[in-house]
Amino acid sequence: MAILGTDIAQAKQLLEQGKLVAIPTETVYGLAGNALNPDAVLSIFETKARPSFDPLIVHTDSIEKIERWVKEFPAPLKTLAQAVWPGPLTILLPKKEMIPDIVTSGLDTVGIRIPNHPLTLSLLQSLDFPLAAPSANPFGYISPTQAAHVDQQLGEFIPYILDGGVCQVGIESTIVAWENNQLHVLRLGGLSMEVIENLSQQKVALSLNQSSNPQAPGMLKSHYAPRKPLYIGNLEKLFQQHSGKRIGVLSFQHSLPDASIQRVLSTLGDTHEASKNLFRFLRELDQSDAEVLITEFVPEFDLGRAINDRLRRAAHSE
Ligand code: TXA
Ligand code: MG
Repeated sequence: MAILGTDIAQAKQLLEQGKLVAIPTETVYGLAGNALNPDAVLSIFETKARPSFDPLIVHTDSIEKIERWVKEFPAPLKTLAQAVWPGPLTILLPKKEMIPDIVTSGLDTVGIRIPNHPLTLSLLQSLDFPLAAPSANPFGYISPTQAAHVDQQLGEFIPYILDGGVCQVGIESTIVAWENNQLHVLRLGGLSMEVIENLSQQKVALSLNQSSNPQAPGMLKSHYAPRKPLYIGNLEKLFQQHSGKRIGVLSFQHSLPDASIQRVLSTLGDTHEASKNLFRFLRELDQSDAEVLITEFVPEFDLGRAINDRLRRAAHSE
């Protein structure tokens, strides 16, 4: 098992030695290594069993630093970044050569963000290199939103987990790019389309990649998935269809009277509370003695879109 703690100096020392450290962010925990060190980046891919075609997000603490690593930072993206960062937004920018190809899986662009977590921001400020960090889960599984989740699955492979408590947003960052004079959202996430459109004062195109030949955000059809079969639809109907089995229920706002294994994402019907709870509840249901899991779509606005996106991918393998 890894050591869990809040010692930034220890995390810094390990990262400087090319080792990996799990870091808290407002979205999910990341599995971090020196983004400028190809060996450290390779060990991120190996530790997660992540395919090499799936590029990593680079984390840092200031726009000034980012300008050293990218060829250009289009004004509309920079304005949006200044309004949101530190926050749950990743921006794709044309990379300079000093960002190793292994980070971006050979793509010309690099995904960069400034995460909003005090421990991780202090760590990033103390480093003279950025941190490549995918979500700290085995590839394809549910993302971790607290230190114990990371420890359970990857603890034996990493020396240190910076314990920053529970992630406040709970789903991964929204990924955007600037193409043909328009903002494109490539992955729905913790910053809603509505907020992006308000801040940027323009219509945003939704360009979600769904195949395994993406430009490549976490857009594989099956992802974020529990081990148990997960079905989405009308909860009452699904509950009847699976009667006779032990059923784990994940509902949005209302509980199901007959269900004994059950989690309600937000009794207030708040998509932000729901996103904060989503991955923890999926994980708890996956670890319960339920044989099948059933869930329903949440309202398709605000963070509800990103939640539905994750539910679709989590259920797809069935
Ligand atoms: O909130 C987050 O973004 C979290 C925390 C740790 O920051 N990180 C995260 O990383 O979700 P990951 O690796 O699980 O998902 C990042 C996605 C990947 O699926 C990758 O394909 C996409 O971002 N991505 C990264 N660089 C890209 C690029 N240059 N072009 C297209 N997609 C890219
Ligand atoms: Mg991930």
